[in-house]
Amino acid sequence: MNGQTPTRRWLLIALMWSVLSGMDALAGNVNLDPHSAANLDEVRTVHMSLDLTLDFDHQTLSGSVIHRLQWLDDEARQLILDTAHLDIRKVERWQDGWKTARYHLADPDPITGQALIISLPQRSDRVRITYATTPEGTGIQWLPAEATADGRMPFMFSQSQSIHGRSWIPMQDTPAIRVTYDASVRAPKGMRVLMSADNRPDMPADGVFRFNMDQPIAPYLMAIAAGDLKFHAWSKRSGVWAEPSVLPKAAREFEDTEKMIKATEALYGPYVWGRYDLLILPPSFPYGGMENPRLSFITPTVIVGDKSLVSLITHELAHSWSGNLVTNATWNDFWLNEGITSYLENRVLEQVYGPEAARMEQVIAYRDMMKAFAEEVPPEDQPLIQHLEGRHPDDAPSPVVYNKGQFFMHTLERVFGRKALDRFLKRYFDHFRFQTVTSKQFVLFLDRHLLARHRGKGFGKGEVMKWLLEPGLPSHFVPPRSTLLEAIDKKVNLWRRHAFAPEALNAYKWSTQEWVYFLGQLAPRANPEKLAKLDKAYGLSASRNAEIGLAWLPLAIRSQYQGADEAVERHVANIGRNRLIIPVYEALAETPSGLRRAESLFAKYKHRYHPQTVLLVQRVLQEARQP
Ligand code: BES
Ligand code: ZN
Repeated sequence: MNGQTPTRRWLLIALMWSVLSGMDALAGNVNLDPHSAANLDEVRTVHMSLDLTLDFDHQTLSGSVIHRLQWLDDEARQLILDTAHLDIRKVERWQDGWKTARYHLADPDPITGQALIISLPQRSDRVRITYATTPEGTGIQWLPAEATADGRMPFMFSQSQSIHGRSWIPMQDTPAIRVTYDASVRAPKGMRVLMSADNRPDMPADGVFRFNMDQPIAPYLMAIAAGDLKFHAWSKRSGVWAEPSVLPKAAREFEDTEKMIKATEALYGPYVWGRYDLLILPPSFPYGGMENPRLSFITPTVIVGDKSLVSLITHELAHSWSGNLVTNATWNDFWLNEGITSYLENRVLEQVYGPEAARMEQVIAYRDMMKAFAEEVPPEDQPLIQHLEGRHPDDAPSPVVYNKGQFFMHTLERVFGRKALDRFLKRYFDHFRFQTVTSKQFVLFLDRHLLARHRGKGFGKGEVMKWLLEPGLPSHFVPPRSTLLEAIDKKVNLWRRHAFAPEALNAYKWSTQEWVYFLGQLAPRANPEKLAKLDKAYGLSASRNAEIGLAWLPLAIRSQYQGADEAVERHVANIGRNRLIIPVYEALAETPSGLRRAESLFAKYKHRYHPQTVLLVQRVLQEARQP
């Protein structure tokens, strides 16, 4: 195809194999996903049929899952599934009717949970597991009605990525496989259930919901939510679900969604998933967003009234190409999902909101990354390819997989030009559609379809491998610039003057990004009297914008500026999103009195937090108690 002889191709591949040492563990079809117990080389699930009941009184999901299996190895007699904190009640195999199957649960591993080992001497092609979730599970949050915006009905939602899906479905919980699914879900009358499947806005909320997902997805994209949800349509294929009082605000804030879909399609090829809807969750949703297929889950904290945080939508939408269509093979390749998506996010932001908006986001991402490299992320964790063996994949450092991953793509754009990179990416998404890829496969494809076609640019596999395998940034990297944020740097100089007059900043019309950048330049601590003046002039403690809160509150705490104390409490009381509250707890935990305050705030608001968030805050407090 590319004019190379087979021998030359093999030589090249052999060469790559040696260059990519350290990546060899990711080769081939064998499951070497360190975060799954599944015996993928022997047998794989191709379809799951769920039959579930949502019990809000007991906060459990119970029912059964039927796995349709594809056997790959004639010798194999076992199916090994991932589970965590599940109550397994019965396992059956289909052999002219459902027959009991022998099984046992392995000892629990603190990170990956408990393997469910099922004996299948006849290599049945269907297995049914009857089970229920338990309160220890980390994949689902149950909220009482009082914790929702409207207080009328309780709410529940899943967050399966990275390895929490196994706490609500016993399954081969690894991105190395793809499954289709169908589901039948019972819920209290009047409540609406949604899944990462064919949500039909006209489906009656009569207590039973049926879903079908006929496009194969990675198991971490299994998703469910239920609550008092109403729908607003923007177009034939796109709209937003939210609680009734939130719906009008969400409909306005994210009204550009259809425009974003069109812009992404123009760059990277058709949106293949049918509908693209958003679901606005309660504020305890632990992430900004989650790219569940056909239905992105979205934090309400980005509804700020001025669309200044909608890059979250371009991000989750972009995952419909990078992540959901072409999926990282293991969590060590997470940058393939998040780094490429962060780049796409930025490109679509530019298309819809202009180049300066996109450049500001890049400069902020660059600054955050450099700070993290200097302070938190040790050099051995800075290569794009991660080594998450023995660690929880949720702990993959985001300054690396998101920011450095994004800047790798920006670098390819600078070197090879937009047109060439866009063409390459479009081809990559098309070539690997509905498949998983390793970093190694990416490099081979990149070399063949981009690097090799522009040898004159002096950018080859060697340069690429610096990004993938080495810490920091290669010397060929050119940092991003933004005119608006360079103007802010000048204002920072004004601030540094002894006699500081807040009016001189003339910050009355600053955007979220300008404030976030400015406050970040003052961090980690500043003169508390000056902060008081700033607060008085611009009402930072009174801001309801949680991104401004994230930039302002840790700075105020570290500077011992007490005027923000109430705002700190409001922030950790009303928000559960990890990225927004963990840094506030960390700043508090740095001093003995702050730690006491953090402990009492946590005790007071813990019941509102998602189980994953509870674990993260506990870890911060624990480490502060015994450094
Ligand atoms: N897929 C991620 C969320 C995620 C990451 C869940 C790791 C579990 C483990 C999602 O697409 C994401 O990246 N969300 C970001 C927002 C984005 C704009 C950077 C977030 O939640 O902050
Ligand atoms: Zn993402």
